[in-house]
Amino acid sequence: MIRIAPSILSADFARIAEAVELAEGAGADLIHIDIMDGHFVPNLTLGPGLVASVRKMTRLPIDVHLMVENPRAFIPLFHDAGADWISLHLEATAHLHKDVWLIRDFGRKAGVALNPATPAHLLQEIIGEVDFILLMSVDPGWGGQLFIPSSLEKIRNLKSWLRREGRDIPIEVDGGIKLDNLEEILRAGMDIVVAGSAIFEAPEPAEAIREMKKIAARVAGDKDG
Ligand code: DX5
Ligand code: ZN
Repeated sequence: MIRIAPSILSADFARIAEAVELAEGAGADLIHIDIMDGHFVPNLTLGPGLVASVRKMTRLPIDVHLMVENPRAFIPLFHDAGADWISLHLEATAHLHKDVWLIRDFGRKAGVALNPATPAHLLQEIIGEVDFILLMSVDPGWGGQLFIPSSLEKIRNLKSWLRREGRDIPIEVDGGIKLDNLEEILRAGMDIVVAGSAIFEAPEPAEAIREMKKIAARVAGDKDG
């Protein structure tokens, strides 16, 4: 199953409600919310208050991407705010198992995120504990950056490793995904598509989501057939 997760980082922050409604109406599967702390990444964005407000207005699962140092301190806040999926960066914690288990103890889906320069084999010891993996295909911090080409091979290799291990863990890919590279990235093995600027900076954001869903359906059809 391929899921589309619009990132509201590229939406107009004064009109988040409209962006979420539009995404839900166009058939999005998750709402991706980027949390930045000014330390792990050199930018500041949103917090648990915003997540709680979004929680009240959509039935879609909320996918919180923690780009923060010391993620453990924030996990309870985002759980209480209503996050359904929570990912934390491997580079941001020395106690990955403890932090992943904390998310799972809350009954939420736990994901481990990797920066583009972090090799996927570092997931070896944690892979049995996670619900999804988030591969960054840009250095985190901003929307609207260019997809790092080596990410394609990283997705392919991770997908074959997961297959060999018999693990059905979805791969979420985040950064630089546009309508014109989506198909190639899906064919490499991406299961969850995060897209910010390709959706919210498009002239018709709902149309961009519908177009992505069409491409995803075609790729899924080819894989099944
Ligand atoms: C970047 C964030 C992304 C961002 C992607 O650090 O994690 O979720 O919104 O934006 P685009 O799709 O514009 O690259
Ligand atoms: Zn993100």
